[in-house]
Amino acid sequence: MILKRLKLATNVRHSALEDQLPLMRANLSREDYCRVLAGFFGFYAPLEIQLMDSPYWQQLPFDYADRQKTPRLKQDLLALGTSPWALDTTPLCAALPDLNAPEQLLGCLYVIEGATLGGRRITQHLQNRMGLTPESGGSFFDGYGAQTGTRWKVFCAMLLANTDHAQDEARDAVIVAAANSTFQTLTQWLFPT
Ligand code: HEM
Repeated sequence: MILKRLKLATNVRHSALEDQLPLMRANLSREDYCRVLAGFFGFYAPLEIQLMDSPYWQQLPFDYADRQKTPRLKQDLLALGTSPWALDTTPLCAALPDLNAPEQLLGCLYVIEGATLGGRRITQHLQNRMGLTPESGGSFFDGYGAQTGTRWKVFCAMLLANTDHAQDEARDAVIVAAANSTFQTLTQWLFPT
């Protein structure tokens, strides 16, 4: 089943990224956290422009518009004291994952929608460590708040409806490759080697 396959295929990249991000560290500082937010902003802002411009939504019955995360990243950075000028001049990632087929869109969406799931732990840590709430600078990692589980299920149902057919092996392979590429481009952007 595609969801199991995606989880297995991206597990190593997920763990590596989780380890590299300072988010759950006991000594996480406000500066570290702002750097992480600015890094995510630099990736999500151009990625979501590409996503929203995609011609493939006609084939995929999924409303991404109100799932966009760039507004939350902006809101958090501004709440934490970043100036609008600094936000406008934040470096943006140019090496984004390819979104040239509906399957590539699905693989990319798996990663950015799945990323909302770690939110509960991260939100708790931001609260304990820095007294941050979703309203005061922690909205991006809070995902969709209480709706996170439900919205993940809606995404998974759409993914399954668009893939789960025996003859779709080649399509599934493209989805998995796109998910890996999304993890890889994000990791390379945040932690260049
Ligand atoms: C410190 C940072 C992170 C932590 C602590 C974390 C933690 C978690 C946890 C606990 C889950 C499983 C939730 C559940 O099964 O209910 C999860 C799932 C997931 N996370 Fe993360 N995560 C982090 C960062 C990220 C990032 C940066 C991405 C990608 C942009 C990401 C992508 C995913 C995906 C795709 C899943 C879904 C896996 C699946 O069930 O198929 N995570 N994460």
